[in-house]
Amino acid sequence: MARAAVASAPIFVTGGSGQMARTLLEEGRSRDVAIVTCGRPAFDLRSAPTVWQGLQAARPSLVVNTAAYTAVDQAEDEAELAFAVNCAGAGIVADACARLGLPLIHLSTDYVFDGDKRLPYVETDPTAPLSVYGHSKLAGERRVLLAHPAAIVLRTSWIYGRHGRNFLNAMITREVEPRLRIASDQRGSPTAAIDLARAILAIAPVLLAGRAPPGGIYHVAGAGEASRFEFAQALFQMRARERRRVPDIEPVPGATFSAKAARPAYSCLDFHKALATFNVRLPAWQESLQADLDQRAARGE
Ligand SMILES: NC(=O)c1ccc[n+]([C@@H]2O[C@H](COP(=O)([O-])OP(=O)(O)OC[C@H]3O[C@@H](n4cnc5c(N)ncnc54)[C@H](OP(=O)(O)O)[C@@H]3O)[C@@H](O)[C@H]2O)c1
Repeated sequence: MARAAVASAPIFVTGGSGQMARTLLEEGRSRDVAIVTCGRPAFDLRSAPTVWQGLQAARPSLVVNTAAYTAVDQAEDEAELAFAVNCAGAGIVADACARLGLPLIHLSTDYVFDGDKRLPYVETDPTAPLSVYGHSKLAGERRVLLAHPAAIVLRTSWIYGRHGRNFLNAMITREVEPRLRIASDQRGSPTAAIDLARAILAIAPVLLAGRAPPGGIYHVAGAGEASRFEFAQALFQMRARERRRVPDIEPVPGATFSAKAARPAYSCLDFHKALATFNVRLPAWQESLQADLDQRAARGE
């Protein structure tokens, strides 16, 4: 390894404009953890020189790769681009981290599974993505671990929070409509971005302390499971308690929306390996959803 990690150096987070990077930056600030984020065009996963320059200039202690091509439906028409970012690009980051002696936490997805299971997926379950996005992320996991066997690949699911495009923000934007139709046949583990950020910031010191567990795949997601409909139902019950007008919601099959990419019908993630290894366990999604809404109310949103 070329350079030993320095604990006081910042954590370097890719995908700076994305919801996870922004949440990590905020969470880092609130607890005095130095974090730098970077994004395009200065740091582009499709350009190895920008990745190397970015990492060498920042001299971080650890890298969190949140950057990804995340347009799940669009990826069906842009497979080459999705793979260039999520597979080749992730590999470039991993290769640079390995050569620079930097621990790496890389984010991946529940969409690597086909959803045929009815119990939470464990890390050793067979993968079988249904979409180009899922295939590109799975290829990325493999590329990352090949280049950097000590990397920690965190698979997560259904991220929601204050920043960016996510199901919660979409529902809140649309709550003025009288009636919404919501898919009731897709179940997952809703994960608050803030909880995932806290988990990442709990894992980072373990890696920096050199007590590194084996590299590989770990599932980290909100505890419990819900369909999109159940999540929306809980959300609007909570919003109604804030005396807001909320829409009527109707459970419908996901196929109603004729999305381009297929999604797993069931993609809950079992978090026990991460709990045993890093002592991280995310709260129940209902608790985190209420906490998110309380924060919004406190900000007057
Ligand atoms: N969102 C979810 O529900 C979910 C669920 C499971 C797993 N994940 C995974 O979690 C991670 C973070 O997701 P997120 O929700 O924070 O995603 P996001 O909000 O869509 O952010 C993705 C970021 O990646 C950047 N990016 C895209 N192409 C890039 C490239 N070629 N070079 C450098 N940066 C590039 C984007 O930059 P621009 O703004 O310039 O496009 C954006 O900042 C991803 O790995 C995703 O696959 C997400």
